[in-house]
Amino acid sequence: MRVELHHVVKRYGKLAALAGVDLDLASGTRIALIGPNGSGKTTLTRAVMGLVEHDGEIRLDGRAGAAARAALAPRIAYVPQIAPQMAATVGDLVRTVAGVRGLAPRAIVDVAAALGLEVATVKDRAFRGLSGGMKQKLLIALALGARPDLIILDEPTASLDAEARARFVELERELLAGATVILCSHRLDELRAMVHRVVALADGKIVHDGAADAYVTGHTHSIFELLVGDVAANDAAATWLATEGFARTAGGWWSRAVDHDAKMRLLPEAMTVLGPALRDVVVRDLDRVTVAGEVAS
Ligand SMILES: Nc1ncnc2c1ncn2[C@@H]1O[C@H](COP(=O)(O)OP(=O)(O)O)[C@@H](O)[C@H]1O
Ligand SMILES: [Mg+2]
Repeated sequence: MRVELHHVVKRYGKLAALAGVDLDLASGTRIALIGPNGSGKTTLTRAVMGLVEHDGEIRLDGRAGAAARAALAPRIAYVPQIAPQMAATVGDLVRTVAGVRGLAPRAIVDVAAALGLEVATVKDRAFRGLSGGMKQKLLIALALGARPDLIILDEPTASLDAEARARFVELERELLAGATVILCSHRLDELRAMVHRVVALADGKIVHDGAADAYVTGHTHSIFELLVGDVAANDAAATWLATEGFARTAGGWWSRAVDHDAKMRLLPEAMTVLGPALRDVVVRDLDRVTVAGEVAS
């Protein structure tokens, strides 16, 4: 499904949550929407879903307006950042969504099972009483099970463990090949596997729009660790480590966070300056892409 935003503005009082966003996603385009907290990612996704009033125009497959949106709804799925507080039981929810979507409940139940949620064991529980991880698994299953042509995923795996996240990425690729995807996530594993374009927001405006590969490489931070022998007796080593901002950790290891450029520069320098005192080097990528205004975590 094609998604077009033409100068979309959303104000909350004086604050412009979206300050004039233009975006044109051809059918089958997969983007990650990133940016610091409060930059407008959720507002943009909710506007595309028709959940917030706004100025400007949003067209889906070339059509704007409520009637068009209603007609296209069966082909659209949404995993919200904050799970709705639904009192319905899990069983009722699965049956209702399957009914409305014209699916066999199996289509949903199987996706949930692949994520590690057995619907049968929680079918009589109220959705709102589930744990955060269970809610997220069910919302993903309800969305992916419908095999939509447009899917909007707003930080869909924030409450999932590493295994469920990996299964989610696999399932998404398997079930939604060809779909238009808008994914709000800074997770490297998801960006690398699921999208080919990164759109960055800041203060409600698009500040970057480009290929995912280059962006991910440029904004991946790593932890750079050096095992250095006998620093106390080695002035050159001690001075270099201090100047470069390394902090002593345990057992002779020194550590600091680095971006891509620093990573490429520091290794040869460490070898030259530290020489034989350099006993070991470890570089670990952090699992999130960092963006301006955000601290690596
Ligand atoms: N319902 C609302 N009422 C008032 N302000 C809101 C509302 N929703 C979002 N905002 C504000 O709009 C800005 C963008 O929020 P949001 O779209 O949630 O950002 P993000 O998802 O990037 O963290 C923030 O400053 C936020 O406080
Ligand atoms: Mg958000």
